[in-house]
Amino acid sequence: MTAPSPVSAAAPVPRLVADQVPVLEPDQLIALSQRRYATKKYDPARTIPASHWAALEQALLYSASSSGLQPWRFLVITDRAVREQLVPHSFGQRQIADASHLVVFLARTSLDSTDIDRWLARVGEVRGTPADQIEAQRQRLTANLVTTPRPGFHAVESARYQVHIALGQFLTSAILLGIDTCAHGGFDPAAYDRLLGLDGGRYRSVVLATAGYHAANDANAHAAKVRFPLEEVVQHRASLA
Ligand SMILES: Cc1cc2nc3c(=O)[nH]c(=O)nc-3n(C[C@H](O)[C@H](O)[C@H](O)COP(=O)(O)O)c2cc1C
Repeated sequence: MTAPSPVSAAAPVPRLVADQVPVLEPDQLIALSQRRYATKKYDPARTIPASHWAALEQALLYSASSSGLQPWRFLVITDRAVREQLVPHSFGQRQIADASHLVVFLARTSLDSTDIDRWLARVGEVRGTPADQIEAQRQRLTANLVTTPRPGFHAVESARYQVHIALGQFLTSAILLGIDTCAHGGFDPAAYDRLLGLDGGRYRSVVLATAGYHAANDANAHAAKVRFPLEEVVQHRASLA
C-alpha cells in the first residue's frame, strides 16, 4: 500500500487523505478555543507565511453553506497602503492596517435559477452525478429557493448569515495554525463597497476579519474569557416541553 501523499496547502485534499489526518484530543480543542481571542493589537512586523495563508484560504473554501450554493466571495487585502485607506471607514480600528491580512467577507445580493444551474453543473463535473438526478435536484432547489420558497425565507438574508459561518470557520482554523484573528463588524459597508468597486455588482461586504500575530503588549491576549455559565448557554433536553 502506498503512503498517502502529504497534505498540500495549495491543492484540494483528496477525501481519503483528509480522513486519515489525526484529530485533536478534547483538552486540545478546549485549549485552542480559549487561545483564540479578539486580537486588539497586531505586531505589524509579522506576516503569515504563504503556506499557512494558503491553508486558510482552503478553510474558507470548505466552509459549509446551505445546499452547497456558496453565496459568497472572500476578498483578501494584504497591501498596507490600501488597508490604511480603509481604517477611517472601520471606526479607526488599527487592526485593519496592522494585521498581516484582511479578509472582507462578501455575500451575494440575489439568488436566481442561473446560480442553481451553475452549482449543479459543478456537482455533475466533480461527482459525475447522472443527468436525471441533477435535473431532480434542479427542480427541487429552484422551487425551494427561487419560485416557491417557504414563508420567512429570504435568500439574500440567508446569504448574509451564511457568510458568518465562513467567518467562524476562518477564526477557528486560524488558531489551529497559531494565527491570531479578530472579527470586525465595526466598519462602514457602504464605504467599503464603494472603495472596493463592488457597487453595481452581485456581492456586498458583510463582515471583516483580520489575521496575523498579536503584539507583545496586546492587553487582550491574556485577559480572562468572559462567558456566561456553560450550563446556562448549553442546555440538555431529554423531552419536549
Ligand atoms: C460579528 C462580530 C463582529 C465583531 N466586531 C468587532 C470589531 O469591530 N472590533 C473588535 O475589536 N472586535 C470585534 N468583534 C470581537 C468581539 O468583541 C469578541 O469576539 C467578543 O468580545 C468575545 O471575545 P473573544 O473573541 O476574545 O473571546 C466582533 C465579533 C464578532 C463575532
